[in-house]
Order: sequence, then structure tokens, then C-alpha cells
Amino acid sequence: MIERWWRDAVLYQVYPRSFADANGDGIGDLAGVAQRLEYLEWLGIDAIWLNPVHPSPNVDWGYDVSDYTGIHPDLGTLEDLARLVAEAGARGIRILLDLVPNHSSDRHPWFRERPDFYVWADEIPNNWESIFGGGSAWTFDDERGRYYLHNFAPQQPDLNWWNPEVAPEFERILRFWFDRGVAGFRIDVAHAIFKDRELRDDPVIPGLGMRRRYSMFRPETHGILRDWRALAGTYDPPRLLLGEAYSLDVEQWAGYFGDGDQLDLAFAFMLTHADLDAEQMRGAVADVEAALPANAWPCWAGSNHDIGRLATRWAGGDDARTRCALMMLLTLRGTPCLYYGDELALTSGDVTAERIVDCATPSRDPGRTPMPWTPGGGWTDPWLPLTETSRNVEAQRADSDSTLHFTRHLIALRRRIPALRSGRYQEIAAPEGAWAWRRGDDALVALNLGDDPVEIGAIDGSIALSTNRSREGENISGNLTLAPSEGMIVVAKA
Ligand code: NOJ
Ligand code: CA
Repeated sequence: MIERWWRDAVLYQVYPRSFADANGDGIGDLAGVAQRLEYLEWLGIDAIWLNPVHPSPNVDWGYDVSDYTGIHPDLGTLEDLARLVAEAGARGIRILLDLVPNHSSDRHPWFRERPDFYVWADEIPNNWESIFGGGSAWTFDDERGRYYLHNFAPQQPDLNWWNPEVAPEFERILRFWFDRGVAGFRIDVAHAIFKDRELRDDPVIPGLGMRRRYSMFRPETHGILRDWRALAGTYDPPRLLLGEAYSLDVEQWAGYFGDGDQLDLAFAFMLTHADLDAEQMRGAVADVEAALPANAWPCWAGSNHDIGRLATRWAGGDDARTRCALMMLLTLRGTPCLYYGDELALTSGDVTAERIVDCATPSRDPGRTPMPWTPGGGWTDPWLPLTETSRNVEAQRADSDSTLHFTRHLIALRRRIPALRSGRYQEIAAPEGAWAWRRGDDALVALNLGDDPVEIGAIDGSIALSTNRSREGENISGNLTLAPSEGMIVVAKA
């Protein structure tokens, strides 16, 4: 029996440069994360996913890796990582890294020494376009006199997985980190690793832009995921493979779980991209529930370093709506992944044109601003501006009515009530604007995402947590009334 520890876990994403700076150079680092473990343990999370920590020219802030088994000097050393793994482990917190197998940096030694590890053509062979805009996914390399493929920035050449020598390199990389106690990987662009061998044109479908049938989503990628799952399963406890399988086609997305032999978790972007609207969210969850193979488990997130923060995207800066979103993420059937600051209802930052450092347009920097630890932020000259610090850890930790305390209660309740982790998801009738579901027999979640009060009937239990912290402990038998932007968790009476 595999111990699937991740199914009970709450994940927490840390963008390392922006989380906590131990040496005061304005850049968050691994020692900073270690210093904040007390906070994360208090909050109750189970695992930290760190965005790439490896040496990188930082064209795409770590997603252009120049050494897969090193640590970027801005962030620390291999010893710092070992210390973080050990100190987190002592607090029951696991560390996940980010694997970038689709491409490396053009400064990786492979790009010059092993050109056969990349995809080349004498002429631009097809209509594939770079995800970051700017047209063709092919760039001319003066030294070789040929074009190379890059699905992302020109400094991120795509690896050629048809070369049988590439896969053993990545198995070596996985083992290197697994042997050092790393609990698993978030896998970058897990849907794109293999490219069409014949480099056929992507279909151009009117109104739908270019569908990436040949530059991504190739069937051979499943074989790689299968091999990695087998490898991860040889460790004790088994290591986690969490995929960024970026397909909004729910059937295609569900395929990345295979027969329970590929990804353990995959971000369900159908929910992430829905509005915080009862109809849309409920539809996204119903689609995921219907499409998932029996063995599969989704991962829910509302924020990340690419799309920005849920408090802005979903809630327009309104704390009550942010709490509804947090309640949802932590009580759906699946593993929630909070992005640093979600627990404070932190909004996306305001990064002026002169401060933008991102290679993509529109810039993703507003979602990557530093974590505000104190009313002044707690940073010296940070690499990205600290814009909004009124929501900060110090103030919210001291205020038992804060969103931070609310999130902590939510995580603790999830830990206390098994149905909230593993109970079956079953939607129940709710008026327009509201959405309610049962988890197993013992828990019920009701959210009013509309503008009018609603009543949800046939409820029996006691209120365990409410978004505005009122009425907790009250017994309900019959109708449950919810004000606009209010959510409640009702559990069976003890
Ligand atoms: C997805 C990552 O989340 C994003 O930040 C990055 O730019 C691309 N993959 C390319 O690695
Ligand atoms: Ca630093």
C-alpha cells in the first residue's frame, strides 16, 4: 500500500526571492525560509513547494536552469537546503522543489557541449509560437548556424526528449534530490516535455488561436511521467509528483494521472481560471469530479507566481470574499495549495514600469512582491517593491479576528475532521448565488457568493467555522441563513 501522504496535506507555495531575507540583501533566501518555519508550523501547513532554487541567469527567474543539482548563490548553498529539509522535517513539514524538464537555460553547459540534447532545424520548420509572445518559437543560433526550438523565451531552449540520453540525466537529477530528503517535485509544464518528432504545424483554428497539438500534449510525455512515478515510488515515504499539467480540457488534463501511475497530483486550472461565482466554480468542480479517474486526486489553488493573487483575482481586495475562497480551497476534495500571503488576504502588488523584472508580457511581478512580515514590511530594499503592507503577519498574528487566524482555524479543522479531507464530494441544492456541498456524512460547506442573503435547507449539525467568525458552535436543524459573502462549515454534532 503506497502511503499517499499528500492527500491529507496542505501545501504552501513559496517564491523564494520574495518570502524572507535572512542576510538583508533584499533577496529572499533559503535561510530566510528556515527562519520562518515556526510561523509555517503555527499556521499548520504540511509541505512547502519552492519555486526553482537552482543556478540560473534569471531571464525567467529560475525557470531557466543552468545547473539542476546546485543552489543559486542568491538563495544559499546546498548546506542551506539540507538544513532547511532537516529543520522543516523536525516540524513535520516537507520540502518540494520545482523540476524544469521542458527546457534549460541557454547557459546550461549542455547547450554548447551537448547540442544533441536540444531541437534544431536548418530552416524554421513550422508555425510554433513562443508562449511569451514575440512570434516564432525558433531562434537562429549564430554559432551553429541553425535554428533551435524554445516554447518559452529564446534563452530557454527546449530539450529534445527523443534523444535517449536526456531521460537518464533527469533520473539522475531526481535521485540527487530525493536522496537528500526532498519530498517531491512540482513539475513545470508537465504537459509539454515531448514535442512532435516530425515537428508538424500546430492547427490554426479560427477563433481559438493556435491549438498546441504538436508543440505540446504529445502522448510520449505520459511515458516519462510513468517512469518518474515508478522511481518516486521506490523511496520511503514515496516522493510526490505534482504536475503543472496546463490543460483546460478536463479530459485531456485527467489523462496526466494515467492509471494512477503518472502524476500524483495535478493543479486543476479549470477552477483557478473560473470566477469566484457559484455557477462557474460549481461547474468547474463538477467537471473535475466527473473526469477524474478513480485513483486521481486534484490540487486546488487560487493564486500562483504566474496568475497573481486570489485576493485580487477572485475577491477584488474584499476580505470577506477572500475568506470564502480560502474556505472553498481547503474543503474541496483534493489537496489545497496556498500561495505565500493568501493566508493574509494579501492582494497583488503595484509594480511600476521601471520596477518590472519579468520577461513575460503582461508582467507577472504584481503577484511576486515580497511577503509583508511587519507593518513596515520587514525588508531592506527588496528586489521587488513591497507595495501593500497593511495586511502583514505581525498585525494579523496579534488579531484573533484576522484572516490569518481564520486560515489557521480552517487548516486545523481540516486536520480534525477526516471527512473534510477524504469524504466524498456531493453537491446539494442551493439558491442562486450560493454553492453548498457535503463531504462524506459528517461535514457540509455552504458559500454565499451572491449579493443577497440565502437560505439553505435541511441542515443538521453545528457551525464549526464561519468566514466572519460569528455563530460558531450554534446548532442548526433546518434552514441555514447566509449573508452575502459569507461561508460556513457545519459538522455533525458530537
Ligand atoms: C510555468 C512556470 O510556472 C512559469 O513561471 C514559467 O515562466 C514557465 N513555466 C516556463 O518555465
Ligand atoms: Ca538574502
